[in-house]
Amino acid sequence: MKLQEALSVFLLPFVLAQDGAQVPITALPLGPLHSVPLTSVYAISDTQHTSLSASSTTTPPATQTVTVPPNTPSIFTLIPVPSDSPVLPSYPETDPLDPLPVGSLAIPDFGPAWSAAWAKAKPKEKVSVVTGVGWQGGVCIGSIAPIEPIDGRGWPGLCLEDSPLGVRLADYVTAFPAGINAAASFNRHLMRRRGLYIGREHVGKGVNIALGPMMNMVRVPQAGRNWESFGADPFLAGEAAYETILGMQEGGVIACAKHYVGNEQENKRLMSSSNIDDRTLHEIYTHPFLKSVMAGVGSVMCSYNGLNGTFACENDKVLNDILKREYGFQSFITSDWMAQHASMAANAGLDMTMPGDITFGSGTSYWGANLTAFVSNGTISES
Ligand SMILES: *[C@@H]1O[C@H](CO)[C@@H](O)[C@H](O)[C@H]1NC(C)=O
Ligand SMILES: *[C@@H]1O[C@H](CO)[C@@H](O)[C@H](O)[C@H]1NC(C)=O
Ligand SMILES: *[C@@H]1O[C@H](CO)[C@@H](O)[C@H](O)[C@H]1NC(C)=O
Repeated sequence: MKLQEALSVFLLPFVLAQDGAQVPITALPLGPLHSVPLTSVYAISDTQHTSLSASSTTTPPATQTVTVPPNTPSIFTLIPVPSDSPVLPSYPETDPLDPLPVGSLAIPDFGPAWSAAWAKAKPKEKVSVVTGVGWQGGVCIGSIAPIEPIDGRGWPGLCLEDSPLGVRLADYVTAFPAGINAAASFNRHLMRRRGLYIGREHVGKGVNIALGPMMNMVRVPQAGRNWESFGADPFLAGEAAYETILGMQEGGVIACAKHYVGNEQENKRLMSSSNIDDRTLHEIYTHPFLKSVMAGVGSVMCSYNGLNGTFACENDKVLNDILKREYGFQSFITSDWMAQHASMAANAGLDMTMPGDITFGSGTSYWGANLTAFVSNGTISES
């Protein structure tokens, strides 16, 4: 059995059939994985599935019908549908000093949508939209308050929910294959479909912003959350993030690329500083985030750690310079939960504070009333 087939055992729910086709699949015999005869593992191809003869099972296996949604084209992408062969140039040459223009094929332009929303919102609402309601202040892991429906306005607020592997803290949901397994498939179709299903389940549970995918490199082997990520190869992580985000957002949820950036270990993650030189930062750690921007990701989460001694969520260089100017990211950056440490983070590029309070349940906030005060005395500009 080839390695890829072995790994695909973990991806079985996604390894199905031709786009849009209804196909009967033969259920694997029940019981622990090791009792499954290896010959009953499906040979994996994205346009066909073949059940290798499972001669050692005596009872005829049950069948069920599974609908596989098609991968649909997206307009602002170099790889509109996943491709088994290289799509050239899927990797346009870029120069940090002369990045691709926003609105080019590779960098989607959200400008018009933002201007329309901006024109509608009142100052108090702008503060409310960027300040979470506080830890456990809503049903989601993070919530943005609604705007009351008065005078034909109104907006239901936002629900932010973990995780990169499916909906967290909910019943009747799927524990999807971990990011590391999705990456190990080396298969764009599967990565995009996994994203699509993850996105759909979040939408089905009422989530607006799903907090994933996670693209930190596995630099510290014992870090507790490495399995969520796509592994230590920046190219593979970038492509996996790209497909996952296209899938999730096609499923109707806003993806959140995280954790930006240098969150390579869990131990002392709130107080460690990742000191990375500029070239390494670009070639390894921020690269998957560039691919996320190219996939049109709707949000990015800044991380707990510092970079060269400055917290990621108030690091002007990584938020404003690299992500927003150089990569052309058009949407918003939310803090990881309690990763904001100052009101002035607004000027460094932070756009949303989560869960909103300074410490869980404190009832105070760096933004909220503080942001209103900083804006009204001109310390932080309204835009
Ligand atoms: C961190 O310091 C290195 C070495 O001076 C520099 O190359 C890099 O750009 C700095 N990174 C940030 C995010 O400030
Ligand atoms: C404003 O921020 C400060 C910390 O800078 C905090 O101590 C204070 O409680 C905040 N005010 C409100 C109303 O949340
Ligand atoms: C603006 O308001 C904030 C919040 O009240 C305060 O901390 C800051 O010192 C003020 N800045 C100026 C220049 O008045």
